[in-house]
Amino acid sequence: MILGIETSCDETAAALVTREGEIRSSVVSSQADLHARYGGVVPEVASRRHLELVTPVIRDALDRAGAGLDDVDTVAVTAGPGLIGALLVGVSAAKALAWARRVPLVPVDHLHGHVASLFLQPTLLEPPFICLLASGGHTLLLDVRDRDRAGMRVLGTTLDDAAGEAFDKGARLLGLPYPGGAALDALARAGDPAAYAFPVARVPGLDFSFSGLKTALLYAVRGLDPAQLVERRADLAASYQRAIVRALVERLEAAGSGTVAIVGGVAANSELRASLPDAVAAPLPLCTDNAAMIASAARYTPAAPDYLSLDAYASTA
Ligand code: KG4
Ligand code: ZN
Repeated sequence: MILGIETSCDETAAALVTREGEIRSSVVSSQADLHARYGGVVPEVASRRHLELVTPVIRDALDRAGAGLDDVDTVAVTAGPGLIGALLVGVSAAKALAWARRVPLVPVDHLHGHVASLFLQPTLLEPPFICLLASGGHTLLLDVRDRDRAGMRVLGTTLDDAAGEAFDKGARLLGLPYPGGAALDALARAGDPAAYAFPVARVPGLDFSFSGLKTALLYAVRGLDPAQLVERRADLAASYQRAIVRALVERLEAAGSGTVAIVGGVAANSELRASLPDAVAAPLPLCTDNAAMIASAARYTPAAPDYLSLDAYASTA
């Protein structure tokens, strides 16, 4: 089995996955509560928490799979992109395990990991397909030709905020706690999506832009007194969500015909899923950050030849 480790942001995660893409266990320990009072992830706080959690989370993943380290033939770890200090905790833990057990270590790109959430059972999606990867840090439209990292070509990306960031910033303006995507999704269900006409930015090609939308929400909120805001909050959430979803769906449709798939935290959004009934969506627990997707990507990634000198990277480019 492949042991996957993911510590790129504020989730400490470990999973055991077979070569066939069967998830034997997947443990995700979220630090969201720890960061909520700061309104966002504090990198140094995240690193320290990963350090405390990484060993118990790996142990828990082994226990839940009814496995021991003897059953692990490969260690896979997110090498980037992400918070550098947070990534280094996972990379160091992976090196120590690989070295102690004399097994190969596979460095995985986090974005490849999100796409590889579609290669797990029961989804087992076959390329080619067009993939929308929408998370807190990225919004990418990908042409996926193959299961390896080189098989993904970027068709479009965001020029400013990521879609998840737009959800989180909107949620914050509406007084919802961080990270607000899921809370905004829930609040929107009680609102009228046609109440406010928020703009969907039209940028050339297949790129995205969400910063204008956030500003439009800010002005709408400023125009209300506290009592009115309470009354209109659900309508604001529903209209705002509709604008983000519309931007994502329009771009996906413009990318061409054929199989369409959605991955990443924003792929958990109920309106996005409902707006794309024919799209292949990663199962909900595999949308947000997890280690099963990292172990999955490792099935299509070569092991590091000299892994003790492997370094983490904060950004691709
Ligand atoms: O993929 P992910 O866990 O982490 C990154 O790699 O960034 O994505 C987290 C993002 C956050 O911005 C969060 O607010 C958003 O996904 N998110 C949602 C929903 N669930 C999580 N956004 C909209 N609707 C949801 N139901
Ligand atoms: Zn992610």
